[in-house]
Amino acid sequence: MFIVFEGGEGAGKSTQSAALADHLAQRGHAVTCTREPGGTPAAEAIRAVLLDPANAGLDDRAEALLFAAARGEHVARVIRPALDRGDVVVCDRFMDSSVAYQGIARGLGRERVADLSLWATGGLRPDLTVLLDVDPALGLARLEGPDRLEAEPLEWHQRVRAGFCEIAADDPQRYLVLDGSRPAEDLAIEIAARVDELLGDR
Ligand code: TYD
Repeated sequence: MFIVFEGGEGAGKSTQSAALADHLAQRGHAVTCTREPGGTPAAEAIRAVLLDPANAGLDDRAEALLFAAARGEHVARVIRPALDRGDVVVCDRFMDSSVAYQGIARGLGRERVADLSLWATGGLRPDLTVLLDVDPALGLARLEGPDRLEAEPLEWHQRVRAGFCEIAADDPQRYLVLDGSRPAEDLAIEIAARVDELLGDR
């Protein structure tokens, strides 16, 4: 079972992925909790390049390829082995971040970027994606010191938000879309209930 959290900046993904991992561990599941970009030494090195404000103006295609490269490495070394062992994998961001940020907000094309990610990972898709939807004005206000992508203008982050909503609307079965401005405890309960149902735990 592969569960992904998606959403814009400051949407609460890391809080919710940690809460879900705790919940699943308490229920006796083996859990691997990870995040993108990163998860292996090489992928963390790529992450550092991607987020460094000194790389302002990085070419859009180079950016998309670096995210895909980090994902390929992360899937090969961490996610696939964990799934093969029977772990539940909980990941903070995955291919829809590439589709929303690079494909839609940067304008590289939804299909092309999705195909690139599928090629990088040998076709891995999440079983469930939880989209925490928040107004970027609110999400960005929750952050300290912006990295290279967070420093993009508000209008760009609005495009990212619209992109995520468009992706989720096209495949409602695989997405749980929640209002990320709701209290974290309420969101955690709703997410746990949906995942328990998927795992046949109820
Ligand atoms: P991170 O600090 O992990 O952001 P957050 O805490 O908001 O998840 O940085 C990841 C940044 O990279 C974030 O701005 C989203 C962006 N991103 C992409 O543009 N494409 C991708 O494929 C991924 C995984 C992340």
